[in-house]
Amino acid sequence: MSTERIPLDLPAVAKLADLADYVTPLALRAVAELGVADLLADGPLPVDTLADRLGVHAPTLLRTLRALAARGVFTEVEPGTFGLTPLARPLRAAHPLSLRDAYPLLPADLQAWAYFAETLRTGEPGFPLAHGVDYWTYLAAEPEQSARTDRWMQSVNRLHLRTVLPAYAFARFGTVVDVGGGTGAFLAGLLARNPRMRGVLVDLPHVVDAAPDVLAAAGVADRCQVVPGSFFEALPGGADGYLLKTVLPGFDDDAAGSILSRVREAMRDDSLLVLIEAVLPPGDAFDVAKLFDVHTLVLTGGCHRTSEHMERLLTDAGLRLVRVIPTATVSVLEVSPAGPAVRRS
Ligand SMILES: C[S@@+](CC[C@H](N)C(=O)[O-])C[C@H]1O[C@@H](n2cnc3c(N)ncnc32)[C@H](O)[C@@H]1O
Repeated sequence: MSTERIPLDLPAVAKLADLADYVTPLALRAVAELGVADLLADGPLPVDTLADRLGVHAPTLLRTLRALAARGVFTEVEPGTFGLTPLARPLRAAHPLSLRDAYPLLPADLQAWAYFAETLRTGEPGFPLAHGVDYWTYLAAEPEQSARTDRWMQSVNRLHLRTVLPAYAFARFGTVVDVGGGTGAFLAGLLARNPRMRGVLVDLPHVVDAAPDVLAAAGVADRCQVVPGSFFEALPGGADGYLLKTVLPGFDDDAAGSILSRVREAMRDDSLLVLIEAVLPPGDAFDVAKLFDVHTLVLTGGCHRTSEHMERLLTDAGLRLVRVIPTATVSVLEVSPAGPAVRRS
């Protein structure tokens, strides 16, 4: 059949090609990790100089930076010479809200995406298909990848501290347990801004190994206990506040329900739980959490949730969603006990 009479929607063709682009996310991540932006802090440099200092192949760096400049990340000020743009500036390590570590290029994650057709068919994450073990077991055995993931979370936490702390009255808590708190970046920032608050950080042993340095750098090590352990086991009891920050999206409903039950069992009847994570908006509204939702599925089998979904999960664990406070990044969900703790596996 001739296609001559079919209208050619060129904007749609261009938009689809743009959306299907493989290059931008991977090139951006590689160049961010390489530290190109740091070398351009004092002004534009020829690509040969950049390549020389970074120990990379100059013609390839040229083609990569040219592709990113076409996206507004870096600018080619004269042929073969590149400078920073507003999008490239936060990629510097020295930027106060540096995003240099926020976009790691993690081969293990890419390998999981290679199984996406299978994930679509079955709903199962690709990560175990690619690596033979689940995401968390893999990270525990791969210190280098685990450290890059932790630096990514530390970087994201600089943004979250700026946007989340002003949105909620954390100062009401004398003691806070950060459950799955990573290396302590968020808790350290919270304690530093609340000099009378005490903290307890719970995460897996290989993750909290790095916490003493993070807490010491914030000057709060003497007010924070570090507890290596799993949030599927009993948690430190009786604190005023419990935090679960960007933890539940990493788990399916059964596992997330178990974590919430462990938190409920540790809470006093007047304790509060504060969930800090993205809440999915309804309908077609764009929210980056809708993209993370699929990425999370590929990696861990977890999901991001709407507030209704979250309410059901909380109710099943003997908890009650009190209110949702949106911020410029993630939302803050205040949660109280709803009744006696419900024991789940
Ligand atoms: C997405 S990160 C969030 C870290 C931190 N709350 C933040 O926002 O920076 C999820 C965290 O859950 C931790 N985690 C995964 N499985 C765990 C388990 N069984 N027990 C305790 N922590 C666990 C990971 O080590 C990781 O630090």
